[in-house]
Amino acid sequence: MTETAPPPQPGPTTDPSEVAERLRMPMVDAMQTQRAVRRLITTEPVAHEVLLPLLELSLKAPTSSNTQDWTYLVVEDPEQKARIGKVYGRLYKLFNPIVTRQAKGDPQELRNMAPGQWQAEHFAEIPVLVIPCYRKNMNHRPTGRPQIRVSSFYGSVYPAVQNLLLACRAVGLGASLQTLPIWWIPSIRKILDLPRDVRPVCIIPIGWAKGRYGPTTRTPIGEVVHLDHFGNQPFMDSAG
Ligand SMILES: Cc1cc2nc3c(=O)[nH]c(=O)nc-3n(C[C@H](O)[C@H](O)[C@H](O)COP(=O)(O)O)c2cc1C
Repeated sequence: MTETAPPPQPGPTTDPSEVAERLRMPMVDAMQTQRAVRRLITTEPVAHEVLLPLLELSLKAPTSSNTQDWTYLVVEDPEQKARIGKVYGRLYKLFNPIVTRQAKGDPQELRNMAPGQWQAEHFAEIPVLVIPCYRKNMNHRPTGRPQIRVSSFYGSVYPAVQNLLLACRAVGLGASLQTLPIWWIPSIRKILDLPRDVRPVCIIPIGWAKGRYGPTTRTPIGEVVHLDHFGNQPFMDSAG
């Protein structure tokens, strides 16, 4: 599929009808350009009139047996964000040297890390952190081998996460899917008062985006897709 230049970047808004208009972005444009956008143009709050329609769209996603075993923690309180930011700061310090080493001094790779650095330094100022969680439902327990149970468990949250990322992209909000900031689950559980049956899955920091959205760089489909049998890759020469 031919990729076109990303549509112009929409700026901050608090107007619900403007949000509804932006959400009409062609699906193909949103999908081709949705990427991790970590730098923000402002740390002003994201109005609930903007955020709630996005969360509503996000939660149109499928879940295992339609049990809708999800809970969203929306964190806006500066003190709460600071507490999460502190946990993340420690994790970032631990992992950043590893990622830097992996970049092997490649200037492009190092440039790519700059937005992540900005985000880690400003984590507590990010307007809103959405933490999708899985809520263990006593009436429905995924069955089967552990690998399949895990698949049902995360798979009941991640489709909604992708919906949210696409909706953010359409309205001009920078968002990224992250797991590192919630790596120390007991700390996050304590900060958010999460009951034992509620497990955080990832965290999505959200605010008005600075910088460009996509196009994304991904492996060509020919290298990823196998037809009928693993190893049969007839689409190697396909465009896209
Ligand atoms: C399961 C998962 C976990 C991720 N965790 C992190 C994370 O902890 N920190 C981070 O900066 N990005 C994280 N990402 C974002 C990816 O690094 C990012 O989407 C990927 O590098 C592609 O970048 P792009 O979407 O800008 O093209 C995660 C993505 C996924 C799917």
